[in-house]
Amino acid sequence: MIIFLIGYMGCGKSTKAKQLANKLNCPVIDLDAEIVSKSGKSIAEFFEAYGESGFRDYESEMLKTFNYPETCVVATGGGLPCFFDNMDWMNENGKTIYLQMEPAQLVSRLHNRQKRPLIKDLNDEQLLEFIKIKLEERNPYYTKAQIVINAFDLDADKLVELINA
Ligand code: S3P
Repeated sequence: MIIFLIGYMGCGKSTKAKQLANKLNCPVIDLDAEIVSKSGKSIAEFFEAYGESGFRDYESEMLKTFNYPETCVVATGGGLPCFFDNMDWMNENGKTIYLQMEPAQLVSRLHNRQKRPLIKDLNDEQLLEFIKIKLEERNPYYTKAQIVINAFDLDADKLVELINA
């Protein structure tokens, strides 16, 4: 089974994916990291070179062509579920988990903004407003996930429980 962790930047997808993979004793795949390693560009450089639409094409292609091991946990980029038919594709090809978090909690966790092109120039106040707007836009996609869970204070054991339920 492929387990896709989805959610906004800063909700803990990469960390939780590692912890969950550890519990399930299976590989972890970070799609942003795969994009960096395949393209030879950081996410920021990728946006600079090809714009957001170039990035969306590339990440969707990566999602759908990656050679996934039979069982694995996949951390996706925050915007990935909201473009093309990516959310439906993930629901058809694996188990999807939305790690939900309040905007203010996300702001307090997003320290390293430089490497995230969409928010790199925003201060806390601007980021809070930006996230609120983005979540309204993105929640219709995110909430198509098979499991929706409040990610604040969530531990990997709870995730394992949910997956096995
Ligand atoms: C993005 C999230 C990032 C990365 C890119 C765009 C987004 O991934 O894919 O900067 O649109 O929310 P993380 O959620 O892993 O930071």
